[in-house]
Amino acid sequence: MITTEERISSITRRFNADRSNLIQILQEVKKEESQISSSAMQIIASNLGMEPAEVYSVVTFYPFLGEQKQGRYTIRLCRTLSCHMKDKDGIAEQLSNELGISFGQTTSDGLFSLEWTGCLGACDQGPALLVNDNLYTHLSVGSVKQIIHKYRELAAEKEKSPHDQPGKVITPGYINLQSFPNYEPWKGIKSLIRKSPVEIAHDLSLSDGIFTSELKSLLDEAKKGKAEFKYIVCNSDESGPGSFKDRFLLSNYADLMIEGMLICGYISGASKGIIYLRGQYADLQNHLHRVLVDCRQKNYLGHEVFGLAGFNFDIEIRMGAGGYIGKNDGALINVLNGQRTEPAVISRAHFITTIEDFIRVSCSSEKGKKTQNQISKPSFSSKVFSVSGDCTRPGIYELPLGISITSLLEIVGGKNANGVLLGGVTGKYIAAEDFELPVMQESVNTGATVVVIGPDRNMIEIAKNLLEFFIEESCGQCTPCREGVPKLLEGLKSRQISTSRYYLLDLCELSECIKLTSKCNIGRSAPDIFLSVMKKKRSTQS
Ligand code: SF4
Ligand code: FES
Repeated sequence: MITTEERISSITRRFNADRSNLIQILQEVKKEESQISSSAMQIIASNLGMEPAEVYSVVTFYPFLGEQKQGRYTIRLCRTLSCHMKDKDGIAEQLSNELGISFGQTTSDGLFSLEWTGCLGACDQGPALLVNDNLYTHLSVGSVKQIIHKYRELAAEKEKSPHDQPGKVITPGYINLQSFPNYEPWKGIKSLIRKSPVEIAHDLSLSDGIFTSELKSLLDEAKKGKAEFKYIVCNSDESGPGSFKDRFLLSNYADLMIEGMLICGYISGASKGIIYLRGQYADLQNHLHRVLVDCRQKNYLGHEVFGLAGFNFDIEIRMGAGGYIGKNDGALINVLNGQRTEPAVISRAHFITTIEDFIRVSCSSEKGKKTQNQISKPSFSSKVFSVSGDCTRPGIYELPLGISITSLLEIVGGKNANGVLLGGVTGKYIAAEDFELPVMQESVNTGATVVVIGPDRNMIEIAKNLLEFFIEESCGQCTPCREGVPKLLEGLKSRQISTSRYYLLDLCELSECIKLTSKCNIGRSAPDIFLSVMKKKRSTQS
């Protein structure tokens, strides 16, 4: 009979008893033991040479970890904005009624746990939920009943493991991509690989692809032969409400992404790539593993890639545990080191950018310099947008930068909108009077996300949902963010905000203080929606 200690120790050994793998180890323990007990934390701490308190601080920080015993099936319903706008509350009520439990509880037979979660990357198909790692979208009264029934039946088949997949219910939204489908993975790198890293960086910077500032500076350094990184990191965390294109790109363009990572590794001397995969995207893990195995078999990854003497490059997948990182690279490095997602100094060892950036590197390598191949290959000087909310054609769109919001809304079927959230939750709220403004790179630096707000929406309800998101995701390090944002939410819920001008002014001052004194984008952006709603309220009153 194997003891708990032996089981847990064998998990830590599988992860080389490496402290930076702490989050992965805890996820495995949770999967196998259905909880992370205090004795498990002590065993892990002693195996990794850490204090139990350090392990505890990570366990209690991430939504997908936690000490409590989990049911055989954990149902996680998305509560963030796009699903909120599609009546996630109605689905929540039905789930509670069907299971006879509230959120945060487990059924007495130990079969189901019910939890809230952040965005699942299916915002154009909401409301959405996960059962263990399986994603279900377009939920309705009928489908919720069916899903629960299916898992009850599955549980009755005793021999099946709780992680068996009874099949996904995913209907894709509207997809309008013009450039990526025209590029063939591994074609570009085969033509480039005989060139020197400096020449490749020159060629890439002369292409017409739109790159992020991170990628531009990598190319600038590589052109001078000065790019030196150890790790090429693909950040697939776009967990802000309304951001979902990464799920689609990972499912359909993983080859192009890996090729882009490999090229970045080659020009910067890195030998290791890391794909950071959000906990909510765990269903994509098997697909990515298969693509990586295939690449290794073809010698596109591994030892002396493409037969190039001395060039070794391989990629591993690191799973997140449910917390929001967005574009906070310092916080991502903390996660990769097995710590909490608190902002940190960005290490010079890691080059971090987005999936879309890596795909563009791969496409650029095939297309060549601006002057070549212009006719045969479509330009990809555009952005891939995730569009959800009150429009008739939510989905993924590749659109040129500079497009006005009015034109964008016409394309997605949202002409009557009252406003849009542009650039995700840490972006900006744009009211209808500013719809002629062009969408530029700076406005989507925080993510090319558009949530359309229709004329019948109550902006106070939207603001409450967003503030709840920020409260949930705050790491708690800075007092203004930790204590101040809940005060704004309290204000929105209170009648006093309409009756007392002084109370309203106090909250506006508090908002400015939170923005000025918070350490990262979460705290700096959280008050924006509150201020926008108050501005609108005051202009309506006057
Ligand atoms: S602003 Fe909020 S999320 Fe960012 S470091 Fe401070 S407390 Fe943490
Ligand atoms: S899946 Fe619910 S907001 Fe994205």
